[in-house]
Amino acid sequence: MDRSEFIQSAALWTAGSVSSINATSFNQNLVSNDMDKLVDAQGNYVLQSLPYQESFLEPYMDAETVHLHYTFHHGGAVKGANKDLQMIKKALDENNLETVDYWTKKLTLHFSSHILHSIFWTNLTNKKLSPTGDLLARIEKSFGSLDRMLALLAETSKNLDGNGWGILAYQPYSNSLVVLQCENHEKLTQWGCIPLLVIDVWEHAYYLKYKNKRADFVDTMFQIIDWDNVAQRLSSALKLTR
Ligand SMILES: [Fe+2]
Repeated sequence: MDRSEFIQSAALWTAGSVSSINATSFNQNLVSNDMDKLVDAQGNYVLQSLPYQESFLEPYMDAETVHLHYTFHHGGAVKGANKDLQMIKKALDENNLETVDYWTKKLTLHFSSHILHSIFWTNLTNKKLSPTGDLLARIEKSFGSLDRMLALLAETSKNLDGNGWGILAYQPYSNSLVVLQCENHEKLTQWGCIPLLVIDVWEHAYYLKYKNKRADFVDTMFQIIDWDNVAQRLSSALKLTR
């Protein structure tokens, strides 16, 4: 296995979301959707630019929070993921697998953080939009109505124990949309799920502006969801799992 093959394999282990999906088409779809560029040509994890200025989400999300969150929390996860990958590669090169369980867990955490944060930034805008078309139809089919889905996602996000994410995802095995409550960045998923809309409820996402009022933060995020981006993600997910 050469370096690029190794990196691709490692990415798939950690993503945990593509178990039965052709890896090449999955990768090509995500790279060509112009929304997510998580690795460079050499296979190193890269922090893509924010899709807007740090002040773009004011007053819903303050520029300082965006700066710290993007630069140090998301950026830190990218750095961590690159180190984890190098350490696993080194262990394989040296045929010394004593510590690979540690680095594999770390890579799962850091790369999952990179994936979810990359989606998170693009899921937000500074104006009120609404889901339409196929996205709305699938929400209604899976949950009964948009309001029911939003209530479920809100409750799931607000009541998460500790740090984590509320996630609306496409589940290809059941061809339905599902709501997940993800602890940290990587726990409590369903194999196969592709995240479409993610709500970061780690304290670093809201504490400067919203203090301990996570529920207020979640309610505010629901006012600035870029439903066009969510719809694009659904379209990509459907194409790559066809
Ligand atoms: Fe975060």
